[in-house]
Amino acid sequence: MDSPSGSVDRPEGVLEGVNADSLAARHGTPLQVYSANAIRNRIRSLHAALQGLDALVCFAAKANSCHAILNLMAENGVGADIVSVGELERCLRAGISGSRMVFSGVGKTEAEMSRALECGVGRFNVESVDELDGLQRVAAQRGLIACAAVRVNPDVDALTHAKISTGKAENKFGVGMSEARTWFEQARQRPNVRLDGLHVHIGSQILDLGPFRQALDRVAEFHRELVAAGHAITSIDVGGGLGVCYREGHDHPPDVAAYVEVVRHALREFRGRIVLEPGRWLVAEAGVLLTRVIRVKQGEQRRFLIIDAAMNDLLRPSLYEAWHDIVAVRQASGPMIAYDIVGPVCETGDTFALARELPECQAGDLLAIKTTGAYGTSMASSYNSRPLLAEVMIDDGRSALIRQRQSLDAMIAGEVTSPQWISA
Ligand code: LLP
Repeated sequence: MDSPSGSVDRPEGVLEGVNADSLAARHGTPLQVYSANAIRNRIRSLHAALQGLDALVCFAAKANSCHAILNLMAENGVGADIVSVGELERCLRAGISGSRMVFSGVGKTEAEMSRALECGVGRFNVESVDELDGLQRVAAQRGLIACAAVRVNPDVDALTHAKISTGKAENKFGVGMSEARTWFEQARQRPNVRLDGLHVHIGSQILDLGPFRQALDRVAEFHRELVAAGHAITSIDVGGGLGVCYREGHDHPPDVAAYVEVVRHALREFRGRIVLEPGRWLVAEAGVLLTRVIRVKQGEQRRFLIIDAAMNDLLRPSLYEAWHDIVAVRQASGPMIAYDIVGPVCETGDTFALARELPECQAGDLLAIKTTGAYGTSMASSYNSRPLLAEVMIDDGRSALIRQRQSLDAMIAGEVTSPQWISA
């Protein structure tokens, strides 16, 4: 819930004393702001919880693939979970070595696998037999051995939004245990693939430890069975999915130590490397989106706050009807008013919140949309020909632009104004 006055509480926390008004004045709005310290603190507490385990944290780059964020991960000993060659190249440029990357995803092409092998990517999380055969082919062509894990689908309900659930049998992800078993049995047919890992990822924004426990228990049982059958398993990747607080007083994410305890307990018989792929948990709460009110519009039935951020900047509310706490940056007293908070894009779905209580607002007021550090800018587009937004990092009272607002020229670069027709 927003604080009773509707004033900033957590944005001040996230902005750590850096003045939101001056940031907005300097860089314009909409403006995505991150706290480097908040991210470092998350990394530190995860590493502390993992103490004593042979663990590698691989940040899911899809949650935020901005160079400065990936670089912060690299500097703090975090690797990457990648799902495309684009993410691979971004991570390499940000200083994450291939050996600290795992490559996930159902649609890896052979060209992508080949480039990943060339860059020494540590492990491929394989999701179909066709992909496994492709990996064998490209590894043989390069005269290399690819390390692989089978992504198992444990058929567990993650109790999260349907669009971000991945661990049910009906989902496109992973393979069932019986298919996975045959891959291990046929290992000799694929001499350039060392299949010695298991991988599981059941979904995202998971607020209940139960589904993690269920999925990991199934993986642990499968691991026991494989070991009994004589297969060596050196790595278990437990995926990502740990949820965060989008709505104060309503979302109660589990403590990271409790989450790691579930992992420790489920995998207590396993002696090998544990890989974790958190995305959201590392960065979401470290980000706020600053946006200005363009105008207030009294409709026939509802009062609208039209802001300069839109669904192209932050898609989550439109796509998943996701809640993000929104607060006014300036302290204001007086009665609260229920606004529908909407962007300028020409779709009714361009709505951030319905009947959200804020102190009375007027054109020019600055608002902060909270918990936007994950799946915000990484899902942004230039829909309605709105340039990609600017991003700023703050660190110990200083701030730095980490991504320029896209220029019109950059937005239309690549478009051909005089097509050169050739006969087909
Ligand atoms: N590993 C794999 C294989 C994944 O597919 C994902 C996320 C992660 C790790 C990281 O999950 P996390 O720790 O961030 O929950 N756009 C959606 C979220 C999609 C998540 C896709 N996969 C959203 O805005 O809620």
